[in-house]
This record gives sequence, C-alpha cells and structure tokens, in this order.
Amino acid sequence: MKHYLDISNVGIEVKTDSGPFRALQDVNLKIDKGEFISLIGHSGCGKSTVLNIVAGLYGATEGGVILEGREVDEPGPDRAVVFQNHALLPWLSVYENVALAVREVFKGRKTRSEMRDWVEHNLALVHMSHALHKMPHEISGGMKQRVGIARGLAMEPKVLLMDEPFGALDALTRAHLQDSLMEIQNDLDNTVIMITHDVDEAVLLSDRIVMMTNGPAAGIGEVLDVDLPRPRHRLELAEDAHYNRIRQQVLKFLYEKQRNPASAAVENQAQGEAKNSENRDGVAGDDRKDDEAA
Ligand SMILES: Nc1ncnc2c1ncn2[C@@H]1O[C@H](COP(=O)(O)OP(=O)(O)OP(=O)(O)O)[C@@H](O)[C@H]1O
Ligand SMILES: [Mg+2]
Repeated sequence: MKHYLDISNVGIEVKTDSGPFRALQDVNLKIDKGEFISLIGHSGCGKSTVLNIVAGLYGATEGGVILEGREVDEPGPDRAVVFQNHALLPWLSVYENVALAVREVFKGRKTRSEMRDWVEHNLALVHMSHALHKMPHEISGGMKQRVGIARGLAMEPKVLLMDEPFGALDALTRAHLQDSLMEIQNDLDNTVIMITHDVDEAVLLSDRIVMMTNGPAAGIGEVLDVDLPRPRHRLELAEDAHYNRIRQQVLKFLYEKQRNPASAAVENQAQGEAKNSENRDGVAGDDRKDDEAA
C-alpha cells in the first residue's frame, strides 16, 4: 500500500572535525494523510536531522523520502517548517510575515484580495487578529510562535513540520497554544510531524508517538498509537487511566530503555563514589524533571 509520506531506510553520515559521524541509520516511517505524529527522544539523538531530511534541507546518505509519490530532494512549499525560535523577519509586520509566504505559494492562483483574506483568516485561527500590524519586537514569544504557525498553515503544506514549536515558551502559554493547535487540527486535519521533549504534549496532540533511540546511528525504537478519542481535554485526561498508561509507556522508553547516556554516566560515577563512602544509602538521584526528555 502506498503511503502519503514514506520515509524509507533513511541513514545519514555527516562530516565532523573528528571524522564522519553516523547520525541516523535505517529510519523507516510511513505516515498517512491527516496523521499527527510526534517525534520524541533524548537531546542529540537525531530528531531534527529526520525533520530536516523530510524538509529537504539535508540529503540522506541512504534511503529517501517520498511525499505523495514524489521524491523529496530539495526544500519546497509543500513542506512548511515551524522552528522553535519563531523565525519571523524582524523588519516585517505580523501580517506581512504571513503575506510574504502566501504570495510566494499562491502567486497566480489567488487574487490580491483573496490573498489578504487568506492571511487574515490564518492569523485569526491562531488568535492574532488584534495584532496584524504589530512588528515582531512588539509582541511576546508566544505570539511570535503563533505567527510562525499561522505562516506554516497559510502555506497549505502537504506536511507541516514543527521542531519543538513550543519549546521556548512558559508552561501556560504552551498549554494555550497546544489547545489552539488541537482546535485547528480538528478542522483542518493537517499532516503534521512535530518534535517535542514534552511527554504530555506528545500524548495530548498525537495520533502516534515515534520514540527514537539514542545515537550514534539512531533509529526508531518504538511507535506508540495514541488511541484516545478527540476532542481531547487536558484536565479530563489528567485523571484518565488510559492516558496515564500511554504517558507511562513513553516515560519508560525514555528513562528505562533509552536512558540519556549523559545522565547515566553521572549516575554511574555517583554510584561508584557512594560505594566508596561509608554511607551506603546515598544513591545519586536523577535531577531531571520526569516529564522532560533532556
Ligand atoms: N551538520 C551536522 N554536522 C555535524 N554533526 C551533526 C550535524 N547535524 C547533526 N549532527 C549530529 O547529529 C546528531 C543528531 O543531531 P540532531 O540535531 O538531529 O539531534 P536532536 O535529536 O534534534 O537534538 P535536540 O533535542 O537537542 O534538538 C547530534 O549528535 C549532532 O551533533
Ligand atoms: Mg533538535
């Protein structure tokens, strides 16, 4: 069966000062139209590299990516990317940042007034209608991120690629944006690949969670179906046994099966020191938050 987006046998070796480095090996992932996929894994495992290969920004050393029957070999407007640090052009207003992308994509297909309506419509989706003519330096980080998402959506891409889109935001703003994204997703059914470090975010938003193994030669460790009905509400889910089971499975993968090599080394060292001391009860704790993977 043909899949909408087919990432097959992707591997990549990059040049570094100390010689070639194999970042990814045998990455296989088939994604259907309208699926929302989260990529999760420890820092440095290769999540952004996967996303950049799908975006056409990096070329795979082996394997490749096929999107709706066409091989991906360069960046294109059918794959919009939303970065962690809202890459807005600082000299353009909120409206103009989105309009620039819309003109590029819809040149010759929409009239000027259709384009204007489309820009305004997408900014309304992310609740930014009140700030159309503000400059990026006049709005908050969360608002900039909303504009970045509006720009991505306005391009009507075949796949929306998001690299930790809410990673730089405070918890409350992040929750608001997650809710907006779920609302938008209910209406538009976009095909999305989103990288996140946040386990709750992954479970709340995704149809499937793709969990990556640690590098070098990272790959896909496990894929988890998130078969929770939609619409999803964070407060109700907090007490939902099935939600919590899925959440546990992700945490188990990250902290038992794929323990962060750096934190494992710290623990080993601390345990060694504890053995040498008289106080045998002093076991080094893991000081990471239990819901963040890096
Ligand atoms: N162009 C490059 N040159 C050298 N090494 C690279 C390059 N791109 C990626 N790497 C290496 O590949 C590995 C994966 O990097 P990547 O940025 O994909 O990780 P990540 O999972 O996105 O991490 P994070 O969660 O910290 O963003 C890392 O070890 C990184 O140093
Ligand atoms: Mg990354």
